Amino acid sequence: MKAIDIRNKYLKFFEKHNHKIIPSAPLIPENDSSVLFNTAGMQPLVPYLLGEKHPEGTRLADYQKCVRTNDIDEVGDNRHCTYFEMLGNWSLGDYFKDESIAMSFELLTKELEIPVEKLFVTVFAGDEDCPRDEVAANAWKKVGILDGHIYYYGKDDNWWIAGETGPCGPDTEIFYDTGKPACGPDCQPSCDCGKYVEIWNNVFMEFFKDENGHYSKLKQHNVDTGMGLERITFILQGKETVFDTELFAPVIKQLEKMQKVDSISSRRIVAEHLRSSMMIISDGGRPSNLDRGYVLRRLIRRMIRHLNKLEIDLNELGNLVDLYIDTLKEMYPELDKNRDTIKSVILEEKDKFAKTLEKGEREFNKVADRLKQEGKDTIDVKTLFNLYETYGFPPEITKDLAAEQDLKVDDSDFEKLFKEHQEKSRMGSDQKFKGGLASSGEIETKYHTATHLLNAALKIVVSPDCHQQGSNITADRMRFDFNCDHKLTDEEKQKLEELVNKWIEEDLPVEVETMKKEEAVKSGAECMFIEKYPDLVTVYSIGNKGNIISKELCGGPHVKHTGEIGHFTIKKEESSSAGVRRIKAVIE
Ligand code: SER
Repeated sequence: MKAIDIRNKYLKFFEKHNHKIIPSAPLIPENDSSVLFNTAGMQPLVPYLLGEKHPEGTRLADYQKCVRTNDIDEVGDNRHCTYFEMLGNWSLGDYFKDESIAMSFELLTKELEIPVEKLFVTVFAGDEDCPRDEVAANAWKKVGILDGHIYYYGKDDNWWIAGETGPCGPDTEIFYDTGKPACGPDCQPSCDCGKYVEIWNNVFMEFFKDENGHYSKLKQHNVDTGMGLERITFILQGKETVFDTELFAPVIKQLEKMQKVDSISSRRIVAEHLRSSMMIISDGGRPSNLDRGYVLRRLIRRMIRHLNKLEIDLNELGNLVDLYIDTLKEMYPELDKNRDTIKSVILEEKDKFAKTLEKGEREFNKVADRLKQEGKDTIDVKTLFNLYETYGFPPEITKDLAAEQDLKVDDSDFEKLFKEHQEKSRMGSDQKFKGGLASSGEIETKYHTATHLLNAALKIVVSPDCHQQGSNITADRMRFDFNCDHKLTDEEKQKLEELVNKWIEEDLPVEVETMKKEEAVKSGAECMFIEKYPDLVTVYSIGNKGNIISKELCGGPHVKHTGEIGHFTIKKEESSSAGVRRIKAVIE
């Protein structure tokens, strides 16, 4: 079954069950500045989940275009996408758990003909905010889910909320057993090994979480379900990955034909990012150095870097866009309608970035020749920084090229130079340069924000008296020193990781403001050596209003939203000096 047929079956099924089919909202939210893109089908419906009357009634269904930016760095594996389509159905104070579960089961087993033994479900295990969801579990038993196929999990797995506050509730997730061997005796739906793939999520939205973390009951009970179309498509087609479906395959095949160097993950990144970029541009997005424009710019630039990795002529990009639009236009006629705009925006951005790459590469070659003549084998940090600052050449590309020529790169003080330069440029209020910085050095910037999160997490997990004693960032890892009187236990390390990743997943905003030093200190901002700062300082805060989780004096740069950081993992914890411990961590 093709994706478009699955979409149509889904909508028809819910129409038959008295749902009104509503159109997909544009990817760029109309009246909601709190998110960059629509991230879920429920997002445009929030007012109605809170009790406002929807003009189409109390039963709705749609397909919604979504972009989730926190998954950018996961793309390249077999299932992550930044753009995806979510099929959804809603009850706005109408039916609840029993009927929702019965309909989901009927659609999956009858319409989509999934054998019942392939289905596993999870339900909420219960805690102080909400009881164990035996209603959902019983509803599953009643429709015929097999014994042993129901699992109970806590809030981490079976509770859904978009962001930090808002309508939320326990959910029941439906998994498909791919038939792959279990990864071990503990393998179960929550496991990430790939045996079980989540295909549908039914949220029973009857709570509201406020800024203080309190839950109250909503005026009405709602159901909000979401089924990822790309996933259900590859599952039903018995394919290994989303990239093997007709949504991506023609483009992947074309890339295979054009490439001179083989890389499966680069092909996937090109195909995925190009699709996202086309969808965003089609809905009115344009590349820039700010917010959603910046996300789009990153998508396009990352795609171009991977085209380069595959050694595909960038002049082929226009044809690739045409092929892609032809591949998808049946599902998204707007792509065909906006073909010229999509092409010209992407090609213009390509030209800009290609120039940066070309100039930088020329300069790099000069540096490499000079070094070789001098009999040296290392690019020093000043040269690395100069390539970055003057030519906008990202350090990770310098490193790639250096490796190809057997040269080493010393990046040990890169961060320091970066900060010094930033300080100077701020003093000279050279806004243009700042704009340039914002578009490169992505990895270091992410690490930089991750150090703030780790600093905040240490205070919660280990001790409120933990403070930063030093840090060092390269494109490959971060090092963070803090005062502490003991070796961290495994449990502490795990909790730190969990907390930092939770904040990353919540995609919290990162805000900067300039204030007097005394004012900053009074406001409780964290700071390592207060006397080293000038009278006017910049303070970075992470979190939502009313729930700021980190506030630090800092020169930046930082990501705009924590979701950009990627996954945070502690690699090592060791002694640094007396009373000071050191954590080495990476983001992936
Ligand atoms: N809102 C839920 C999700 O995004 C279900 O639609 O998964």
